[in-house]
Amino acid sequence: MRLTQVDRLRPGVQIAASIPTAEGEYLAEAGQTVDRDLINSLRVRGISRVYTRDPLTDDIEIVSVLTESTRDEAMGTVADAFAGVGSNQSLRSVCTSMIQEVRASEGAVQGIVPIYPLSDHLVAHSVFSTLHALLVAAEVNMDAGAMLSLAMGMLLHDIGSAQYQATIEVPGKLTELEREEFQQHTRAGFELLREMLSAMPLGRSIALSHHERMDGSGYPRGLEGEDIPDLVRIASVADVFTAMISDRYHRPAMMTDEAISYLLTQGMSKFDSDFTVALTRRVEIYPSGVWIRLRDGRAGIVLGSRRMNTVRPTVRILEDERRKPLSTPLDIDLSIHSDLFIADVFLN
Ligand SMILES: [Fe+2]
Repeated sequence: MRLTQVDRLRPGVQIAASIPTAEGEYLAEAGQTVDRDLINSLRVRGISRVYTRDPLTDDIEIVSVLTESTRDEAMGTVADAFAGVGSNQSLRSVCTSMIQEVRASEGAVQGIVPIYPLSDHLVAHSVFSTLHALLVAAEVNMDAGAMLSLAMGMLLHDIGSAQYQATIEVPGKLTELEREEFQQHTRAGFELLREMLSAMPLGRSIALSHHERMDGSGYPRGLEGEDIPDLVRIASVADVFTAMISDRYHRPAMMTDEAISYLLTQGMSKFDSDFTVALTRRVEIYPSGVWIRLRDGRAGIVLGSRRMNTVRPTVRILEDERRKPLSTPLDIDLSIHSDLFIADVFLN
């Protein structure tokens, strides 16, 4: 399976991974054959890329730490909570499943990138950012109690956003006034979680403080460094990372390597770099299924990455130095071939 740009999608190709909606349905299902209607509905729903199947990459299994059933259950639980009909019990139960699956993955590197309709971004973003936060937590050996608080707080960290949906669901950047208004979602969320997370003050504080930044430039209180608890630091890295690698109203999804390099450069003063580094050990910087071009001109599709070396994936070379298709694809493990370098990452 490979990741394909929706703009280059042709009828007849097979979808390789389902695209869930917040209503508990699928916009596209694995195995479905692409037709004009599906291409149109993917475009209308703001989806820029999908996983597809083809003979050259059929053996590529892309790692998803979360099972589809847990992902879908989490989407439903968050949708209920955002609609005001959530329960602490169902939240706890789905968080326990998510934590179990992250722990059982034993260091697997998350390969599947988040794909969901724009209209469901509040719910889906919550689920994928919780997954990324839990991967960081597992990587730093967080204890079980803290991990549950992190999962519960993270799943509902943007619950206050629901009332500002009309403000944020527009193409283009927000005006100063709209931005100020939207910033209220942190306090609003903290209030909304008074009952549901009453026994989890740290989990609840994620709603209030996930936009705080290490250098004091965040909101709502402008907290700095040591005043920001670890749980909240993990939450803000996971929140921003997930947003960057997802499609948004004002831009298509960024590539994972761009998001990580932002966090480790311009974002260095704003985010806890230890947690960003922990994240890079558990998500593929060059996701399986994307194209890369080597400096020598050859290009191919990423097959997967090792946990401790996500900057050096294994690649299936499909084009030679002159950009001509190879008659026999060649798999190269870049962690062994230290003389080869990635010059570009792209989708086809
Ligand atoms: Fe937020």
